[in-house]
Amino acid sequence: MYDGGKIITGLVVFIGLVTFPLWSNVGKAAKKPDPKIDTPVIQQLPEKERKCIEPKALMQAEHMKILNDWRDAVVRDGNRIYVSSSGKSFNMSLQKECMNCHSNKKKFCDECHNYADVKPYCWTCHIEPKEKEKVAWASIEENS
Ligand code: HEC
Ligand code: HEC
Ligand code: HEC
Repeated sequence: MYDGGKIITGLVVFIGLVTFPLWSNVGKAAKKPDPKIDTPVIQQLPEKERKCIEPKALMQAEHMKILNDWRDAVVRDGNRIYVSSSGKSFNMSLQKECMNCHSNKKKFCDECHNYADVKPYCWTCHIEPKEKEKVAWASIEENS
């Protein structure tokens, strides 16, 4: 005779184990990145001008390419002025332009990059914005 109870219990355990990676990820997958734009420089902009250099959707999709183009323009052609699609001029600088507005790298760039598991290697050469946590560390080190 088959032991129906045992077979069913076995099946339930088996399905549980096989699908574990799916449901154990549910919580993580639901936590979408939430990049913050509440930096001092952005908050000082008049509400109508509280925008990125290009429309938000374009920035989400193309910011890596824009940064590449900026680097090529500066390093190869010595051109430092970017004129946006709305006719505004910007300084083609990661540090002096992007990170001036987005001075909260951890709560902005890293928020998405950690989620997407990308680690741009830019910060070995380019200087990251100084954030509060870092300042706290520096003062701890100075005091000790
Ligand atoms: C003048 C200030 C300013 C500068 C300079 C600037 N940004 Fe932005 N950025 C913003 C604001 C404000 C938003 C939010 C736009 C919105 O909600 O419509 C934004 C949005 C974005 C987004 C989309 C964020 C999201 O929530 O999906 C990305 C990505 C981004 N910026 C990257 C960059 C990069 C890379 C640079 C330099 C090439 C840059 N920004 C330069 C102010 C700036
Ligand atoms: C709305 C989410 C979001 C925000 C905000 C954001 N990024 Fe990204 N970034 C991504 C994603 C997703 C990728 C990977 C895209 C791909 O691989 O096609 C990426 C890739 C990049 C890359 C290319 C890295 C590589 O190894 O190919 C650079 C450089 C970069 N981001 C710079 C920045 C900087 C600087 C900021 C902050 C000013 C920023 N990003 C903010 C989502 C974001
Ligand atoms: C090996 C060192 C190094 C790395 C890594 C690096 N850069 Fe640069 N980058 C430079 C140097 C040097 C310049 C030239 C600076 C100048 O002429 O003002 C430059 C210039 C630039 C410029 C234009 C000028 C400026 O002030 O920003 C951009 C934009 C830029 N890099 C983006 C990036 C991005 C995005 C990454 C990461 C994907 C990156 N770089 C990684 C060394 C580096």
